Amino acid sequence: MRTVLITGAAGFIGSAMVRLLRAERPDWRLVSLDRLHGVGGSTANLEGTGGEGHRLVRGDIADEALVRELFEAEAIDTVLHLAAETHVDRSIAGPGAFVRSNVLGTWVLLEAARQVWAGDRATRFHQVSTDEVFGDRGQDSNVAHEDSAFAPRSPYAASKASADHLVRSYQHTWGLPVSFSWSCNNLGPRQHPEKLVPFCILRALSGQDLPLYGDGRQIRRWLHVEDHCRAILAVLEAPGQGLGYAVGPLDGTENLDLVRRLCSLLDLRRPAAAPHAARICHVADRPGHDRVYHTAADRIRAELGWEPRYNLDQALEQTLDWYLENPDWLARVGRGEDFRRWVEAWYAGRGGAG
Ligand code: TYD
Repeated sequence: MRTVLITGAAGFIGSAMVRLLRAERPDWRLVSLDRLHGVGGSTANLEGTGGEGHRLVRGDIADEALVRELFEAEAIDTVLHLAAETHVDRSIAGPGAFVRSNVLGTWVLLEAARQVWAGDRATRFHQVSTDEVFGDRGQDSNVAHEDSAFAPRSPYAASKASADHLVRSYQHTWGLPVSFSWSCNNLGPRQHPEKLVPFCILRALSGQDLPLYGDGRQIRRWLHVEDHCRAILAVLEAPGQGLGYAVGPLDGTENLDLVRRLCSLLDLRRPAAAPHAARICHVADRPGHDRVYHTAADRIRAELGWEPRYNLDQALEQTLDWYLENPDWLARVGRGEDFRRWVEAWYAGRGGAG
């Protein structure tokens, strides 16, 4: 029995986490904290998760008074820290928001945990992080492990690495019970459409081309969001202090291959517009674009018995079908027009044909 503060609970991964916990840990009390500021975090993502044992609070993790008040009033004993600015392109366009949410916001949560928990060992602060903190592993795929040194290269990755360092420092200095997970790229229903897969789905469905940065040979590992959430739960429930696990499939995929697989699925669903792969084009590369992320995720398999339930094609299929079945989602979260304008401006800046 736990009382869990889930930050970023109305976002893509946060809302998947809430759904998993409501289904599999129905006796836990959940306090969902989210700014609810648009597509990233929207009450639409939490539909069906309400009821007894789940409170949704609109607010900012960087609001010290609010966070402290929640810790005390709700008797929080567990934090699942998922709130973050996550899009590398946005971090290049404006790093300040990343420092504020990812670094300052994490510090505010840690301070509340340190002060309110006051050494209570029956608590846990779980930091949800990213394989991007380990930096570009290069063409020869120089594999990172959980204890490899951080080497972030984008403002996004640097903000997450900074937050991870802070979490670690609270463990060493004050004995705060912490754990970490470093996940690869996620995909699945409700993913924010600025990310590669939903972005290509929406562009393909509206007859536009599919822009790959540079040569499209960059390598990422891809995981269904539900598999990521199951990994977080496994780490949260593992006994021990300062645990950290990389999370992901064993194999990486080139962006070009990923988008081609998506195109094959689009051909099956929308044969009149086939072949969708003919729409793939190459645009100016992202500044400082990391070629390869590769963090070996065998420790979580060996020690916690975690395995993904979905392979890449199944995850792609679920993401595509969710967008096909929810054509009004962007409009419902109230940011459809904003998003379209943002994407078009960004895309024009990247040298795309529109
Ligand atoms: P993204 O989903 O932004 O995640 P991240 O940068 O955190 O890995 O991008 C995944 C990969 O796809 C990354 O190598 C950048 C690339 N990409 C494109 O080639 N075109 C696009 O339009 C986008 C959004 C991403």
